[in-house]
Amino acid sequence: MTQQNSERYALVTGASRGLGKAIAIELARRGYPTILVSRSDKVHETCEEIASRYHIPSVGFSADLTDPRSIADLAEQVNANYHVFMLVNNAGTGGSRRFVEASTQYLENILDLNTKATALLTHALLPNLLRQPHAYVLNIGSMAAHTPTGFKTVYPASKAFIQHFSLGLREELKDTSVSVSVCSPGAMATNEEVTARIERQGFFGRFTLKSVESIAQKCVRQTLRGKRHIVINPVSYALSKMVPNAIKTPILTRIVKREL
Ligand SMILES: NC(=O)c1ccc[n+]([C@@H]2O[C@H](COP(=O)([O-])OP(=O)(O)OC[C@H]3O[C@@H](n4cnc5c(N)ncnc54)[C@H](OP(=O)(O)O)[C@@H]3O)[C@@H](O)[C@H]2O)c1
Repeated sequence: MTQQNSERYALVTGASRGLGKAIAIELARRGYPTILVSRSDKVHETCEEIASRYHIPSVGFSADLTDPRSIADLAEQVNANYHVFMLVNNAGTGGSRRFVEASTQYLENILDLNTKATALLTHALLPNLLRQPHAYVLNIGSMAAHTPTGFKTVYPASKAFIQHFSLGLREELKDTSVSVSVCSPGAMATNEEVTARIERQGFFGRFTLKSVESIAQKCVRQTLRGKRHIVINPVSYALSKMVPNAIKTPILTRIVKREL
């Protein structure tokens, strides 16, 4: 290994915008150097913004995380050059479609980015994380993970994968230096498509709406404390645990249908 940089970095995926960018800024605000990843070159703008605002190193990588070769190349470069003490698997995507009308590309994109990329990147960076005295994995799930929902189908299923993957890995690593957390955010008005969907859902869409900045702060704070499950909306989460799927699934499916 040719690691010349003795600083410890936090790697955040999907950091060009939305929650990933807000988490990167929160980490920089706390003085942590960051490695930021997104599909487009836009992530380099986030790095420049962070470096000039906080005078903290921030390195950008453009990588399509739906491509396992890109994940392997990214991990090889990171492992060769940086000590990583935190991995934030944030890049993710969703949508609302009739399952029969969804293209295979739409389905593959959600499944590959939300599930496969999270598992493969974590697997590739884990030896690096395990070498650090204290290390953290934060996986961004969703409130959607807790209710099977029509017209979303693969998205809640992919986030249920994230929930199970995170809690299983946490248990497996409990005697090591690596703590694994999973966060279940509700709605965040991060981009135009999501904002329009939240508006079409009416009251229910706005019910769990929170700012990305407040969510990022809670995520970073609770990850560093080793919290198992980071709940952003305790009331909706408690309701979601109390009400059986036989009641929740038809209600949520009817609400999501309004998005179409
Ligand atoms: N927004 C919500 O209401 C909501 C609610 C619950 C959970 N979540 C979850 O929170 C996380 C962040 O959501 P967000 O709304 O902040 O997302 P967003 O605004 O759509 O941003 C997505 C980020 O992921 C990157 N990305 C997309 N496809 C990629 C790929 N193939 N390879 C590498 N990077 C890729 C994007 O990079 P480019 O800029 O290069 O495209 C961007 O940086 C996701 O896991 C999402 O499922 C969101």
